[in-house]
Amino acid sequence: MARRILVTSALPYANGPIHLGHMVEYIQTDIWARFQRLRGNECYYVCADDAHGTPIMLKARERGVEPEQLIEEMATSHQADFADFLIAFDRYYSTHSEENRHFAELIYQRLEAGGHIERHTIEQLYDPGEGMFLPDRYIKGTCPRCGAAEQYGDSCEACGATYTPAELRDPVSVISGERPEVRESEHFFFRLADFEALLRQWASTEHLQPEIINKLNEWFEAGLRDWDISRDAPYFGFRIPGTDDKYFYVWLDAPIGYMASFRRLADERGIDFDAFWSAERADETELYHFIGKDIAYFHTLFWPAMLHGAGYRTPTAVYCHGFLTVNGQKMSKSRGTFITARTYLDHLDPEYLRYYTAAKLSDSVEDIDLSFDDFVQRVNADVVGKLVNIASRCAGFITKRCDGQLADRLRAPDLFRTFTASAERIADLYERREYARAVREIMQLADQANQYIDAEKPWELAKDPEQLGAVQEIGTVGLNLFRVLVVYIKPIMPQLAADAEAFLDIPALDWSSVQSPLLGHTINRFKPLKTRIDPQHVEAIVEASKESLGGEPAQEREPKGRLAEDPIDETITIDDFAKLDLRVAEVRVAETVEGADKLLRLELDLGGETRQVFAGVRQAYSPEQLIGKQVVCVANLKPRKMRFGTSEGMVLCAGPGGEDLWVVGPDAGAEPGMRVK
Ligand code: 2FM
Ligand code: ZN
Repeated sequence: MARRILVTSALPYANGPIHLGHMVEYIQTDIWARFQRLRGNECYYVCADDAHGTPIMLKARERGVEPEQLIEEMATSHQADFADFLIAFDRYYSTHSEENRHFAELIYQRLEAGGHIERHTIEQLYDPGEGMFLPDRYIKGTCPRCGAAEQYGDSCEACGATYTPAELRDPVSVISGERPEVRESEHFFFRLADFEALLRQWASTEHLQPEIINKLNEWFEAGLRDWDISRDAPYFGFRIPGTDDKYFYVWLDAPIGYMASFRRLADERGIDFDAFWSAERADETELYHFIGKDIAYFHTLFWPAMLHGAGYRTPTAVYCHGFLTVNGQKMSKSRGTFITARTYLDHLDPEYLRYYTAAKLSDSVEDIDLSFDDFVQRVNADVVGKLVNIASRCAGFITKRCDGQLADRLRAPDLFRTFTASAERIADLYERREYARAVREIMQLADQANQYIDAEKPWELAKDPEQLGAVQEIGTVGLNLFRVLVVYIKPIMPQLAADAEAFLDIPALDWSSVQSPLLGHTINRFKPLKTRIDPQHVEAIVEASKESLGGEPAQEREPKGRLAEDPIDETITIDDFAKLDLRVAEVRVAETVEGADKLLRLELDLGGETRQVFAGVRQAYSPEQLIGKQVVCVANLKPRKMRFGTSEGMVLCAGPGGEDLWVVGPDAGAEPGMRVK
């Protein structure tokens, strides 16, 4: 009986482009979903943009647009990238949707009714200039353990310590550069520990990989802490019912986005939603989440607990994959290995990356490496040199000598049976996400097909008109072997399969098609199905990636949820640097600001142009000390609206902050307006 399956990939944040690190997961999931459909199962693959949270709100502000506009643009570009990588979602939606609001509220209300929500007043760092509480990633300061400067509010990259932002020494707000202050606020917490028994039982090899189970056991040992699910305004998200200014934390409604996307699909296609989500009917269907190992905490603790607490089913399995490294290293902007999906697509066929990724993937959480030399070599040798080669070696004989007509009998039935006999083994490998092993099996068969053609030497026989029948039969065997391999590779290379189906002039192949050979049938003229990768294209991708700017956004993740670091590279190129317009400016006016004990309002003369700047230097300087002083100002900073007025630049200072701050000025002789280089 056909299985009924719902599959998801993690929802990408709507504030940055899709890059090759993301693509590993979408390729992995898409292969699995396509495989299930080829097997005749009812399989839906849904996803959405993860549209809420502080980084998206701030990014929109920085761009001077409403968050709705930003997420719309992102949704369009993400979907174009996915479509061009042949990711066949049944539905792609957004967490900023009415369906998602409905389920977020419903789940929250059910959890609350069940006594699983608590309120506590907590202390948090607050940016008074911006009028907002600061997420950990928006606070930088000195590590309380090792003293390294410029560390984020949650953890130190130098010594690995984790801490609360309040423990950070000399904290500054990344948004305003001001020193944040501690303020109290009431937050809502989800009592995760209420679900410990359920989670312990759920954490078995039936649902999770062994590495993840180990991790869960560590988390159980450490104790399941309450999860802070609310954020104060201003926040881009859903307001918590019954409050005026509290919002659901982005990670609460993100996984609910899986349900919302499926709800939308179910409404559009008349699918029975409850069959896939209700707890009572969990044995009718299967629910799988494919994710990166860094977000296991959310998907293996919070998510099943939330679902269960709200009366929904828990996932059949959560499958984690590792990160992508490029040439053995973290993706890096300066090395040109931080490659966006679009940059890749501008130069190369998406199926090459699909093939290479599959050739590397297993069921483990190990990182996978994209090595450019290996990539070129592997694709050229396997896809072009082995697989497509079978068809191109046989097609000419059939088209030119036999009017495109395949023979009526199979000359090498044993060989054909060897090929079809692999169907179940290869299917099992796909099912278990052992794609690398599946690819190896497929390529071993391709070798056998090529060996058969080598041994039969149709090109020799073709010289003798008497042997035309044999030539036709050999070509027919070759194309039938090719056709079986096309079925096996179809989840990975759907376009190649579609082109092969067009060439063979047959309806879409599925897994069962391999059992009967294609005989006495007329095929179309052969066109090359794939061409070799020219290494120059890879070089062009690297060059283009060095040029493209745009930083990886700060991610909304909690340290305890992380198993490894994100690929964030902090170096900038000379071009990035050149974008800064630094100018000598003279302070004409300096005055204190009512209600802001860290700020001075400055009027700067930039050589004929006057700018107002709010600088967080009040603890270090009195207004009188600054008047008449020359400073260096970032002149092309986008003006920022603050509570007290608009700030039209930034004054450079040295020092950790607070009282220990020194404005940076030019040497004697400089004039206001001069460019600083
Ligand atoms: O880590 C991330 O990129 C998140 N946007 C993933 C969310 S997955 C799901 F929970 F929505
Ligand atoms: Zn440290």
